[in-house]
Amino acid sequence: MPAPPPDARTCLATATTVARCGDDGVVLRVLPDEPFPRVRASRFFMLRREDGSMPLVPRPFSIYRQHGAELEFLIKVMGQGSRALAALRAGDRLRVTGPLGNGWPALAPVANEPWVMLAGGIGSAPFFMGIEQALAGMDGKPPCRPADLALLYGAARKGLLYDIDAFRQLGVRTWTATDDGSDGYRGNVLGLLESLQQRGELPPKVRLLACGPERMLEAVERFALARGLACWLSLESLMGCGVGICNACPVPTRADGPLAAWSNAKCCVEGPVFSCTEIALAH
Ligand SMILES: Cc1cc2nc3c(=O)[nH]c(=O)nc-3n(C[C@H](O)[C@H](O)[C@H](O)COP(=O)(O)OP(=O)(O)OC[C@H]3O[C@@H](n4cnc5c(N)ncnc54)[C@H](O)[C@@H]3O)c2cc1C
Ligand code: FES
Repeated sequence: MPAPPPDARTCLATATTVARCGDDGVVLRVLPDEPFPRVRASRFFMLRREDGSMPLVPRPFSIYRQHGAELEFLIKVMGQGSRALAALRAGDRLRVTGPLGNGWPALAPVANEPWVMLAGGIGSAPFFMGIEQALAGMDGKPPCRPADLALLYGAARKGLLYDIDAFRQLGVRTWTATDDGSDGYRGNVLGLLESLQQRGELPPKVRLLACGPERMLEAVERFALARGLACWLSLESLMGCGVGICNACPVPTRADGPLAAWSNAKCCVEGPVFSCTEIALAH
């Protein structure tokens, strides 16, 4: 069975800044006691405060950015754990365990087939470094040009398009969609994608990467399968341990796919990024 990644470890860290972001989020910056090397985008860390003010079970968060030895996380306040993390003050201590999971596949240029990143709300977090790393070149492959990438960022309303200005500054074509029409296209990211394809801004054949709420990922999976598009999903499943022990994070596998030997994969150690050929979210 898959094991935790060999480069993962647990250590203490100090919160350095907590900045409000969007209507209900924060960007938390922490300085680990021992530095981590560069982390692949869409890998994650389990975070827990050290002062007992948070549930015992740590919570998983994607790496958002790295600044020297500091790690940044983009956190939406959902419940007790994320609220406690958002309430951290400079100097408070927390435990970080990671980097966990696999991360995005190598984002190398493919002729006439741009990578289209579909972000839903806080699901934008793994795309910031994803774009940076694609533009720098991944796994020794040629770097993408900005034209090889597009970010389609959707949310219920403008205030939930977290850190949108920072994403725009990455220099990649970025379009937004909101359910209430308060920013960009009125509707969801798949409606936006279809409208961009109809207008010729994006070709019919694209390679999809998606992260967002489960219902959105199910819709993306159906969309990709119906059109025969290559597609990878980064799942935000509920997790307990993050390292393959507790079985809290099952993901149904595709009966005709490469993971079919087991009816479920473990999101934490086999994911969180899965190809649509591997898993079956939508029924
Ligand atoms: C690999 C991975 C990466 C993630 N990256 C980020 C990130 O970068 N930023 C971020 O804000 N969040 C991220 N998440 C989600 C984050 O882990 C949860 O929001 C967090 O664990 C909630 O903990 P809590 O104690 O605040 O809420 P809880 O009290 O545990 O839950 C509050 C409510 O939210 C629901 N809920 C909790 N977690 C989820 C979930 N994953 N999906 C749907 N509903 C949920 C619960 O059912 C409950 O109704 C990620 C999750 C995974 C697995
Ligand atoms: S979270 Fe424990 S096995 Fe995946």
